Amino acid sequence: MVLNTSITYHDGQLTVDQHAISTIIDEVGTPTYIYSLPRALSNYAQIKAQFEAIQPHIHYSVKANGNLAVLRALIKAGAGVDVVSGGEFFRALKAGAKGEDIVFAGVGKTPEDIRYALENGVGWFNVENVDELDIINQQAQAAGVSSVKIAMRLNPDVKANTHHHIATGHGTAKFGLSVAIIRDILQNQTKYANLRFAGIHLHIGSQLQDTQATLQALQSAIDLIRPYPDIQTVNIGGGIPVAYRPDEQLPDIEQFAALIAPTLQPYTVFMEPGRSIIADAGVLITRVLYVKEQAGQRIAIVDASMTELIRPALYQAYHHIVPIKQTSAATVPTQVVGPVCESTDILSQEVALPIDLKHGDLLAILTAGAYGMVMASTYNARPRPAEVVVDVDDSQWSIARRRETWDDLVKQEE
Ligand code: LLP
Repeated sequence: MVLNTSITYHDGQLTVDQHAISTIIDEVGTPTYIYSLPRALSNYAQIKAQFEAIQPHIHYSVKANGNLAVLRALIKAGAGVDVVSGGEFFRALKAGAKGEDIVFAGVGKTPEDIRYALENGVGWFNVENVDELDIINQQAQAAGVSSVKIAMRLNPDVKANTHHHIATGHGTAKFGLSVAIIRDILQNQTKYANLRFAGIHLHIGSQLQDTQATLQALQSAIDLIRPYPDIQTVNIGGGIPVAYRPDEQLPDIEQFAALIAPTLQPYTVFMEPGRSIIADAGVLITRVLYVKEQAGQRIAIVDASMTELIRPALYQAYHHIVPIKQTSAATVPTQVVGPVCESTDILSQEVALPIDLKHGDLLAILTAGAYGMVMASTYNARPRPAEVVVDVDDSQWSIARRRETWDDLVKQEE
């Protein structure tokens, strides 16, 4: 089931840890994201346990959910962070990350981003472009920083089994560099006086459905770095999948860890999980506005939309939806849609919802903690939703980001 230890029914009421969602919504309104920090921390601990054999240093991928409360909790628990922009770097520092615990990835870092990262003692650059090396080297020289740690990002030219929009390891993808180019760079590394080529990075996609492609990619990375004893760190990226459908079968992560452990044993291992830490710790709560029958189908129009959660529209992603109040009523296949003027504004093509669903009922869109709010927009002049967190010790909940207002939407134009 996609409900879990933190998102569950108690006495017929959907709760996040011990807090009834209906009580939170009475105060905060809808649409609202609610995140369970206890669940995020338990996912973090579970990943560490599953990969115990390789003792990974976990760098939480900020792009999945950059809310400061989420970042603070993970950083406090010992996680480093993976960022892909100056903005994410800024966010990570705000949340208490130390520069040295930040890995800075991204296919198009600007010179300003690079300077900012160097000024703040960035731990690593994951580099995906030869010209980028020149810029980092020059900026490091100008800033008087030497031995800047570099992990070249390999494009291993493998086909990941995931949605094509979130695959990154095929040869024609914009990500990474080929074996031949990286080999060439490593052979000529002395020309970058201020850089230290100390790692290799790979990430072949997100929500990876089988481990074969990752194994293959890892093997080419190891073969590539073998002649270079100074390369002691292997960053295997993110991509651990989560269940979005009830009873979805996922690859066996412990088995995968056991498979890669012997290869990685001589190295320091970094990982960059995002989704697997925060996705199932988050729900998006929405209220039913209208229900109508059309062309033999029941449609529920709700107050959340593709502007809050774009994954269904962008990747045909499935998110399970359940009522906040548990009911024994029969269910009807229902299309759940948002109010935005776009045909793709569909949150679920078909989900079973109670036959008596009506105006005012609350629904929870599950597994929405990753790539939800971070991808939210204000299209149709829709203020972005509030975010609520349940505290790490489950004692209380609080608003971690207030709902935007109409004034917020126009204030940059006044
Ligand atoms: N490291 C790198 C270099 C990445 O590109 C990504 C994700 C991650 C780590 C984190 O991957 P995760 O553990 O979350 O799978 N918006 C899409 C997902 C885009 C993923 C981009 N890169 C979605 O909603 O499915």
